[in-house]
Amino acid sequence: MLKTRMTEMFGIQHPIMLAGMNWITEPKLVSAVCNAGGLGILAIARCTPRETRELVRQVRDMTDKPFGINQILIGPGAKENIEAAMAEKVPIINYSLGKPWFVGDVHAYGGKVVGTIAIAKHAAKAVQAGCDALVVTGHEAAAHGAAATSMVLIPLVASMVKVPLIAAGGFYDGRGLAAALALGADGISMGSRFMVVKESMVHDNFKRLCMEATEQDTLYDTVFDGLEGRVLKTKEALAMTKRGFPAVEAVKGALLVKKLMGLSWPKFAAISLEMLRAEEGHPLMVLARQAVGNMKHLKAITEGDVEGGILFAGQCCGGITDNPSTKELIDRIMVEAEGVLDKLNKLKG
Ligand SMILES: Cc1cc2nc3c(=O)[nH]c(=O)nc-3n(C[C@H](O)[C@H](O)[C@H](O)COP(=O)(O)O)c2cc1C
Repeated sequence: MLKTRMTEMFGIQHPIMLAGMNWITEPKLVSAVCNAGGLGILAIARCTPRETRELVRQVRDMTDKPFGINQILIGPGAKENIEAAMAEKVPIINYSLGKPWFVGDVHAYGGKVVGTIAIAKHAAKAVQAGCDALVVTGHEAAAHGAAATSMVLIPLVASMVKVPLIAAGGFYDGRGLAAALALGADGISMGSRFMVVKESMVHDNFKRLCMEATEQDTLYDTVFDGLEGRVLKTKEALAMTKRGFPAVEAVKGALLVKKLMGLSWPKFAAISLEMLRAEEGHPLMVLARQAVGNMKHLKAITEGDVEGGILFAGQCCGGITDNPSTKELIDRIMVEAEGVLDKLNKLKG
């Protein structure tokens, strides 16, 4: 049993979080993590507000433990989704890529806000904005880590802010959990590792690719969804790095965003302008490329399309070799972490 500021703050048994992963962290996996003593995070970026409320209710039907949602704050729909989650009084609101305008409202119903950062100076800003805890994402991570690795970023951020830290990027076993605690974090968040568990909906073809991958088998580039991000080195991912800026696909992506969000042309134009003007705005082309990336991502996880699909995945796939149940994985990590900490303790003369 490891008691940390993370377990205390969120009222959970183990300092292990399921990283929010669009499409993948749905109620079955979220509740499996919660019921095994970890912190499950439902990703709602793909949802309409109505779907958000429905999925939150499904999680509540499957577990009575604390859980959270994850929402990327860029793009249309983010505000409405956060409002839907707040209306459901979701205990933990985890956001990434943006500024949290909703901290006061979440605190008002007794919830906690967890900001995700990948650059040290953003940690201080997130704490100033009122975040209760931070997810600190290193370069090794699947999707949107920045330049600094977990090894460098975690101790830096731990020296800068006083709130509990959850280390993300490269964690997949008990040694990693023990190391994160040693670096100043209060627990870990895992994405890639939780993609390859029995309760994960990721297609077997891609689970197998993750298990076969070495630590060298990922690519880090902006071509996948317009932001710097890491994916598994598949045929299509390699081709995308060679093709460069996908102008035609990006325009198709923008139209897809319009359709998926049910936007009228005037509303679509207004949102595009707003995004182009925003202080930390992400131009519409980024959003459009996200739509393209999302379609290829969906092909990977639902159809198992190893030719045309791409999958966000981290360097730690090199250490992922099995497809256990969520509970087996969490129990194994806890036993291993406690063993490592005992062993280290014995090193003292
Ligand atoms: C398939 C996939 C989808 C992801 N989607 C999101 C998302 O919707 N929101 C987010 O904040 N992070 C997202 N991430 C990043 C994870 O939350 C997390 O930061 C990352 O997986 C941690 O690194 P690891 O894979 O080494 O554990 C995604 C990661 C993966 C693998």
